[in-house]
Amino acid sequence: MKALVLAGGAGTRLRPITHTSPKQLVPVANKPVLFYGLEALAEAGVREVGVIVGDGGGEIRAAVGNGSRFGLDVTYIPQHAPLGLAHAVLIARDFLGADDFVMYLGDNFVVGGVTEIVERFRADRPAAQILLTKVDDPTAFGVAELGPDGGVLRLEEKPSRPKSDLALVGVYLFTPAVHEAVRSIKPSRRGELEITHALQWLIDQGCDVRSTTISGYWKDTGNVLDMLEVNRSVLDTLEPGVAGKVDAASEIVGRVRVEEGAEVCGSRIVGPAVIGAGTVITGSYIGPFTSIADNCRIDDSEVAFSIVLQNARIDGVRRIEASLIGRSATVAPAPRTPSAHRLVLGDHSTVHLAS
Ligand code: TTP
Repeated sequence: MKALVLAGGAGTRLRPITHTSPKQLVPVANKPVLFYGLEALAEAGVREVGVIVGDGGGEIRAAVGNGSRFGLDVTYIPQHAPLGLAHAVLIARDFLGADDFVMYLGDNFVVGGVTEIVERFRADRPAAQILLTKVDDPTAFGVAELGPDGGVLRLEEKPSRPKSDLALVGVYLFTPAVHEAVRSIKPSRRGELEITHALQWLIDQGCDVRSTTISGYWKDTGNVLDMLEVNRSVLDTLEPGVAGKVDAASEIVGRVRVEEGAEVCGSRIVGPAVIGAGTVITGSYIGPFTSIADNCRIDDSEVAFSIVLQNARIDGVRRIEASLIGRSATVAPAPRTPSAHRLVLGDHSTVHLAS
């Protein structure tokens, strides 16, 4: 059993962060979201992993390396453009060979891992096995229509009139039967080779495509709010501890981790929250569900329910909430007069001003 991890893609919904760094490396509780997936695969007993990389491939290679620290053996497979999930399977043909494999979308987060589903697939070996979960708005997802026995009858990509509320979760299991499917389908209207079309092709050929509906927590971290939600749920399980310095004028409340080399002075940190190594926080309030990465500096400010990436600086700002702040970004007040917002924003930035 091999794994194919998809860490390419355009990442348009997470711009401008994805202009400079792949979305799979955005940290959740200060660890790249991709690492949680790699750990889950290692735990499921997979060793050989092909990682599909696009424009941000250099950074993914630097972060993941040869995979040995996860107990994995990683091979990189460059994809010259994000031409679809089934295209990723197509270009991984040589790597996958005659093996069964689990395909894992590198920006997805599945609480509880994939061990159970991988084991069940190994035992039953249907042509393909998909994971489904109930969602409120199926129009944004691949949607499955099931027969009375739970077998998959039909799949539709982002349907305007969904036939069920069961959306595809970003983990798929395949036997080599999928290779003929991805060779047989044509690009969709959006120009991508869709994995839903490959699965539908298998169903139409009479192959056994099964589904498991999971009730556990799953999120696609493709947009900022989902990213913040995943961060929130992971911080809830954080191992608390103070390895850095916290002065007597500071207060730490609840589940908080202060990494080694971090300094907290005259501040209140309310967990769950993590403060990265080398970060200095003075005269500030860090509210719940917040991850501050390494080497940030936060002075005289309030930050809650947010993710702040490395080397960012926040100075004299109340209050930042539900925000994703990029590497080496600076957030500071404008001079008092004239009363105007002064912005230097990267392409595709989004700013919500309170006044
Ligand atoms: P998506 O989030 O569906 O696509 P995207 O990354 O292009 O994002 P956006 O819609 O914001 O522009 O992709 C799911 C995962 O699969 C993600 O980790 C990126 C990866 N991927 C590839 O590796 N190759 C591809 O061709 C595509 C479409 C996605």
